[in-house]
Amino acid sequence: MAGRRIEMGVIGRPHGVRGLVHLHSYAADPAALPGYGPFETEDGRRFTLRWVRTGVAELTELVDGDRHVVADRNAAERLVNVRLLVDRARLPAAGAEEFYLADLVGLAAFAPDGTPLGRVDTVHDYGAGASLEIGALLVPFTRACVPEVDIAAGRVVVVPPHEIVVAPAEAGQALEARDIRAAATDRHRTVDDTPFGGGAGMVMRPDIVDAALAAARGGSADLRPAVFLTPRGRKLTQAMVREFAAGPGLVVLCGRYEGIDQRVVEARGLQEISIGDYVLSGGEPAAIVLLDACVRLLPGVMGAAESAEEESFSAGLLEYPHYTRPAEWQGRRVPDVLLSGHHGAVAAWRRAEAERITRERRPDLWAAFQRGVRETGLHGTAVASPAGAS
Ligand code: ADE
Repeated sequence: MAGRRIEMGVIGRPHGVRGLVHLHSYAADPAALPGYGPFETEDGRRFTLRWVRTGVAELTELVDGDRHVVADRNAAERLVNVRLLVDRARLPAAGAEEFYLADLVGLAAFAPDGTPLGRVDTVHDYGAGASLEIGALLVPFTRACVPEVDIAAGRVVVVPPHEIVVAPAEAGQALEARDIRAAATDRHRTVDDTPFGGGAGMVMRPDIVDAALAAARGGSADLRPAVFLTPRGRKLTQAMVREFAAGPGLVVLCGRYEGIDQRVVEARGLQEISIGDYVLSGGEPAAIVLLDACVRLLPGVMGAAESAEEESFSAGLLEYPHYTRPAEWQGRRVPDVLLSGHHGAVAAWRRAEAERITRERRPDLWAAFQRGVRETGLHGTAVASPAGAS
C-alpha cells in the first residue's frame, strides 16, 4: 500500500480574522491528529497543525524548510475544503477488525451469492460513519451492509439496502435532485433529531447531511461550491448569482425542519444564503429561485446577451418601465419620447426613470448606486452592484 495517501482531515471555514480554521478530523482520536503531520494536500503543499481549541486549528505551511503560519483570514479562506493527507506507509497497522477507509477503495464488491457488483470507487467518511460508493450504489459501511472485508484478497461482500440505490447521473445532466433520506442509515430513514438545549422542532443531523453532500459530490475533484438555503443566510444578490453562473456549478442543500446542525455547515464550508426576508417552509422553492437566476445567465439561454445585462440590478438600478402597442390603451398614452424615434432622448428618459424608481422604491440600492458613482466617477451602466453584493 506504499505511496497511497490517507485523508486524515479536511479544512473547514475560517475562524476569526487571524487565519485559524475549523478543521474536521478523521483520526479516531482528533486530539492526536497533529501528531500525524506534516500533511500533504492534493496540490502538493505541506502543512502542520496545532489545535487551539476543539475543532479549531492553526495551520503552518512548510515551504523549502521554512515555516509560514497561516495568519490571516484571506489565506484561511483559500484553504476551505482542502484535504489533509498522509502517506499510508507512515500510519500504524490497523488492528483486527479495523480498516483504513482508503484501503477499501478499489476492492471488488460481491453480493452474498457471489454476483459481482463492481468496485469500490470512493469511500465517504462522515466522521460518525462511512459509506462505500460502488458504481451507482451507495452503501453504509456497517456490519449489516458490508459483512465481509478481505483486504488481502481484494474483496468485500455487500448487502445493499434497496432504498439507497442512487441512479447514476446522465452525462450532461444539468440538474440532479437528491433525497437526503437516501443518506440515512437506519430502518426509519431518520435524518433529524431534537435540538440540544431544548426548543421546538427538529434539527437535521450533521452526519446525515454530510453523507448526502458527499454522495452529491462527484469525488474530491468536484470543485462546486456548496450552498445552504436558509433565512439566516446572506441575502442573494445579482452579483452572487453572476459568480455562481460563471462557476463550475453548485451543490444546493435545502433545509427542512428547524434547521441543520451548524457543525456540518462549518465543517463543509457551506455558504448560507437567503432569498429574502421571509420564511419559507423549506429551502426547495428558494433553490428553484437560485437555479433560475443562475441558469438565465448561462451562455445561450437568453436571446441576446444584453437583455440579461440591462435588466434590473445589473447596473445597480431597477429597470425602467416598458411599453408596446397600442400607443394608447384605455385612455393611457405611451410616453411621447418613446415614439419620437430619437435614440438619445429615449436612453436619457429610460435612465431618468430607472433612477427615479430606484430612489423611490429601494433607498438601499439607490444609496449603494450613488456611492459607486462617487467612488468611480462613472455614470454609465455597470457602475455599482446592488446593496449587499459582494
Ligand atoms: N428557507 C426558508 N426560508 C428561506 C429563505 N427566505 N431563503 C432561503 N431559504 C429559506
